[in-house]
Formats: sequence, structure tokens, C-alpha cells
Amino acid sequence: MKNSYFDLIEQSYYFPQEGFDLRDDYLTFHGISLEYLIKKYGTPFKLTYLPKISDQIRKSRNLFNRAINANNYKGKYHFCYCTKCCHFHHVVGTALKEKVQLETSSSFDLDLVEKLHETGELTKDTILIHNGYKTPDYIEKIVNFKKKGFKNSIIVLDNRSELNRLLSKLGKDSINIGLRMAIDEESQSAYYTSRLGIRPNEILTFYKENVSKNKQLNLKMLHFFVDSGIKDSLYYWGEFKKALNIYIELKKICPSLNSINLGGGFPIRNHLGFEYDYEYMIKEIVVNIKEACSNEGVDEPDIYTEFGKYTVGESGAIIFSVLDQKQQNDAELWYIVDNSLMNTIPDAWSIHEKFILLPINKWKNDYTRVNIGGISCDHSDYYNSEDLNQQVFLPKYAPTDKEPLYLGFFHTGAYQDSISGYGGIKHCLIPSPKQVVIDRDKKGNYIDYVFRNEQSVEDMLHILGYDCKLTE
Ligand SMILES: Cc1ncc(COP(=O)(O)O)c(C=O)c1O
Repeated sequence: MKNSYFDLIEQSYYFPQEGFDLRDDYLTFHGISLEYLIKKYGTPFKLTYLPKISDQIRKSRNLFNRAINANNYKGKYHFCYCTKCCHFHHVVGTALKEKVQLETSSSFDLDLVEKLHETGELTKDTILIHNGYKTPDYIEKIVNFKKKGFKNSIIVLDNRSELNRLLSKLGKDSINIGLRMAIDEESQSAYYTSRLGIRPNEILTFYKENVSKNKQLNLKMLHFFVDSGIKDSLYYWGEFKKALNIYIELKKICPSLNSINLGGGFPIRNHLGFEYDYEYMIKEIVVNIKEACSNEGVDEPDIYTEFGKYTVGESGAIIFSVLDQKQQNDAELWYIVDNSLMNTIPDAWSIHEKFILLPINKWKNDYTRVNIGGISCDHSDYYNSEDLNQQVFLPKYAPTDKEPLYLGFFHTGAYQDSISGYGGIKHCLIPSPKQVVIDRDKKGNYIDYVFRNEQSVEDMLHILGYDCKLTE
């Protein structure tokens, strides 16, 4: 029985696999040498591999369009990128090059959309789905967008009172609206029905009493989002069918209704053994909608998705050096990395999200079970279980080794920057790491550049109100 880290991975999973391989004993990510990036930029750094975003969008579109054609489905598929997942310009810009539509969640999102319009990255024809809680400011901007000529915007009402607030700002204009159905959560959830959306049994009455008689309102869309993910489970299909039935009942009395929006929730690979049949799930979604609509004699709706994590998750990674190893008792060895895990991959700490964790070098060394610790002084700043193993294995190394052990958390491209507040105040004042972006030029060659350097002392102290000049 061999004991190297490489053997462990090779015996446990298919390796190499999509996105991960070894070159000269160093890990590559989508064919990019991480050794090269580490030598060029030093650690820690976050990286975003933009071509993966385009690939994900194309894959989803191809699979939906194939299922639509194969089943002679009459509606169209619309891929919306949900900006809250990652707002960086290079990310949203890459998605827009694929001609995506956008989903917004708050007032500032509309300012972001306006900037993208100014730069010509989107047009007034882009479909904008306005989700989230509608504060007065957000509603006002949505109404003004309509006035400015963004003709394909749909405001999805999250609750009944939003309608009154919308009508009070609308003046004489008309507007496209959607209704969000609240889902019942999975049984292990901390609550039963989601706070987001309108209760399913109130939607039809709400439409009849408050929407149908108002000529200014065109109901276009029924929206629902199962936040635990689109899975081939009884629970998912139960919520899906509930939404589909409401769509059909509404469609019978509302001719303008023509779209069903499945929200987000497409999963991504968070361990090397991940298997998910995207093609099967998409086919089932299309076939189920088609069958239910034909049985009831209503037209098949356009299908919208707002995949966030699926679009950008697998494009991101964060690379650390191990600064130190500490044997704290006979069984527990700690590898201390050069930033904070709580600050950089906050979902791992807050909702116990798992990411793919791999060493970059020393794959030929023996492996050992470790706990990974960040350099904040918070006891929760650690990572020590993977999705399949409930434990973490990494190569052993000698403290006298010239080259440190480098490791990476992969598929971290979604939500981590917005939740950690990239570039803001950080736990223990540990700065936001450098961000490196990787793209391909027109000839298909890789290009890499620093989007943001590591956060500076001045920057952080400025946020905190210490606007003094620092002496050398
Ligand atoms: C309304 C809505 N749509 C889409 C998404 C994206 O979900 P995901 O990143 O799981 O695809 C979210 C996430 O919170 C959401 O609230």
C-alpha cells in the first residue's frame, strides 16, 4: 500500500479530472500553472478564471435548448445572471459577453446596471428581473428605468404590500410584473415556509383581487426558488409541481402570463467525487412543464433561470502558503495558513459550506490528517472536514523544507467576496488578499493580471476613521 498524497487522491477519485491536473508535480487549475502564479504574485491571492464563466453559461443554454428542441417545447429559455453572486465588473462583463439577461436584488444593483449600459455592455433590450425586497428607493429606480427605456424589465413582487408601494410611484405608466411564490423549506430547516415570496394559497386571490383589474399591470412571470438547490429529490419535485400548478391556474385567467422562473440553485462541484446529471435534470424540468401544460391545455411558458453559484462558483480559487505546523496533541496537527479562512471563505465558517481543497505542491510526500487554521485569533477560524470525508488530508512536510506547502480552496467564486465584504474592515485587521484575474486573449492564450493588490494599511485605517499619515 502506497502512502503518498498522490496515491490517496488517485485511489479515492478519478484524477486528473475537469479543471485539475498535475504538471511537473504542481497542481494546475483549468490548465493554468499555479506554481507560475505563486512565483509571480506570492500568496495569499484569490484568482478568477473568466473563461469558466462563459463555459458554464453555454453549457446551461445548450442543455436547455437541446431539451426544448428534442421535446418540441414551444417556449424559450432565458439565462439570467444573478448579480448578487459576484458583482465584480470583470465577472458581470464576462457573463454579458454571453448575452445573458440580469437579475437584480437591491437598489444599488440598478446603478450597477446603469454603468454597464453606459459602457455599452448591455442594452435597453436586456431583460432585467428585479427580485428582492423592494425598498422605496429600489422601487423608484425600477420605475425610472422603465421611463428611461429599459423596456424588458419585470418587477417580481415579493409580498403583497409591494404592489401598493409600486402603484404609488408608478404614475400613469404600465409595468410588467411577476409574482414570487414562497416555498416550503426542507424538513431539517429552521423554519417551515420561506419569508421570500407570497404564500402559494394566496397567489390566485391576490391576482384576481389586486392585479387583474388594474390595466397598468401586466403579469408576465411566476417565480419560485428552492434555495436548497435543484435536486432530483421528492422535496424538489414537490415544490416544482406546486409552482407549476399555480402557473397553470393563473395562466387560465391571465393571458399576459408567459414565463416561469426557476430562480437559482444549480449545484457545483464541491468535492472531487461530485456527480450531478445536469442534462437529466434539465430534460426532466422541460418535459414536466410541457406535460403539465398540455394536459391542461395552456401554452408552455418561457423558462427563466437565475443561476448564480453555478455561473461563477467554479471560476474562483484562493491560494495560501502554510506558514507553520503545530502539533497540539497526539492526534491534532494544525497547518496555519497566511490569511484568515473566516475572512476569505466565510461560507465555510458560517454555513459549513465545503470547497475543494487541494495542495499545490508536495504531492509525492506522505499524507497526514490535519486541521487548517487561519491567522485570526478567532477559534472558529478553521477548516477540518470535507464533504465526503469529515476530515482533511494533506501532504506532510518537514519544517526545514525550502519551499513551503501551498494549498488552494477551489470553486470559491460565488458569494465569498460579497459576504466577507472584500476590501472592507476585516477580522483582526487581516487584509483582503490580492485578486488575480485570468482570461484568454483573442488568440486563445492565457493572460493574467492583478485586479486589486492586497488591501493596504491606509485603506483599512481610512475605513475605520484613522485618517492620519503613516510614517515609514
Ligand atoms: C431570487 C434568487 N435567484 C437566484 C439566486 C441564486 O442562487 P444560486 O447561487 O444558488 O444559483 C438567489 C440566491 O440567493 C436568489 O435569491
